[in-house]
Amino acid sequence: MNEVRIALRNVGHIDPMSIDEYIQAGGYEALKKARKMDRGGLIETIEETSRLRGRGGAAFPTGKKWSSAYKNDSEVKYIVCNADEGEPGTYKDRVIMEGDPHTVIEGILIGAYAVGAKECFIYVRGEYENSIKLLRNAVKQAEEKGLCGDTVIKVVSGAGAYVCGEGTAIVNSLEGVRGEPRLKPPSMAVAGLHKKPTIVNNVETFAVIPEIITKGADWFGAIGSEKYPGTKLMCMSGDVENKVCVEVPTNATLRDVVEGFGGGVANGKKLKAIQLGGSSCGFVTPDQLDTPIDFDSIRAIGASLGSGAVYVIDESRNIVDILAEIAKFYRHESCGKCSPCREGTMRIAEILEKFAAGEGSKADIELIESMSGYMQKSCFCPLGQSATTAFISALKLFPEDFDAKLRKEA
Ligand SMILES: Cc1cc2nc3c(=O)[nH]c(=O)nc-3n(C[C@H](O)[C@H](O)[C@H](O)COP(=O)(O)O)c2cc1C
Repeated sequence: MNEVRIALRNVGHIDPMSIDEYIQAGGYEALKKARKMDRGGLIETIEETSRLRGRGGAAFPTGKKWSSAYKNDSEVKYIVCNADEGEPGTYKDRVIMEGDPHTVIEGILIGAYAVGAKECFIYVRGEYENSIKLLRNAVKQAEEKGLCGDTVIKVVSGAGAYVCGEGTAIVNSLEGVRGEPRLKPPSMAVAGLHKKPTIVNNVETFAVIPEIITKGADWFGAIGSEKYPGTKLMCMSGDVENKVCVEVPTNATLRDVVEGFGGGVANGKKLKAIQLGGSSCGFVTPDQLDTPIDFDSIRAIGASLGSGAVYVIDESRNIVDILAEIAKFYRHESCGKCSPCREGTMRIAEILEKFAAGEGSKADIELIESMSGYMQKSCFCPLGQSATTAFISALKLFPEDFDAKLRKEA
């Protein structure tokens, strides 16, 4: 299996500070081509022919989102490129932004033309100083070459809150209020930033748009799997030999990714599990390695593709130690807006800390299980609703790890 590089096609080949090198590599031709297309037809191409689905985690059809904003007759519409990338173990958007910022800018400008947006934002997490510098340079260069026309792109630095990667929380943050989620509906495409139609798409989603226009939506739609075509960036971390980010067609298997590109488990150890998709997702076991990395195949085995994070866990680990770290993260990142998440993440972190120290009890497990049920049903946003997904998955797959952490007399 070889990489198929669409979002990463220029990474390592051009100077990310140079618009001329991007243009020499064929850059901004797609924008010119798109602007000659009828806007409805352009969206239809993305929606029906390319069948592109968002790469930020939820895999929502990109063309469908664009279509509802396009059809809205509001005079003001916005585009937001989600570059918050707060998911632990995820660094794919940084690889794109630092290697080829112009593909992101070009994708955004095509989207802006398609839906009729004049103001666009790239919301980048504050820790990504280099990405911010490169994107600002790229926007300035595109403006100087007259490529932006009357469309303005602003690069905004976030403060590093995990919840600010969620579409409605980004919009709050951009409005200058607390980075907390908003109630949906209405969807962002109906009433987002300043209550105007707003498209929120991930960096990777925007990054493939120029190539879809240049090479044709049919070409893209024929790559990878039928229902989730194209490529996906997967980033490996944890107990893997090569901690790398790769772009593979969506019919590649987890084995291709972890054993092929990742070089397998580090130090000759055996694979215990993979936490796939990020901290809010469950675990995949070695017998599931032949599953293709398309959204639906992964869902069919009860897991999630999420952001494309591949956290490899070797046989020597006790999963409870990992769960305790995840719980700490959620306690820190809960925004506090709703009490089930604010209190639930706090209590779960306390209990798991105790468990990891070998002081757990069966009653603790039952307590977390029942709290998980409440949190899934009553938390305001997916942050709290999925804060215990990893715990529930681990309890099913690795009950012996919990037993090993029980207090001796418990
Ligand atoms: C807690 C939380 C954090 C999220 N963080 C990100 C993020 O860092 N980047 C991202 O693109 N999407 C993130 N999302 C998903 C976004 O809400 C949204 O679905 C996505 O940006 C849409 O873009 P796409 O359709 O191109 O995938 C997050 C969602 C939640 C609930």
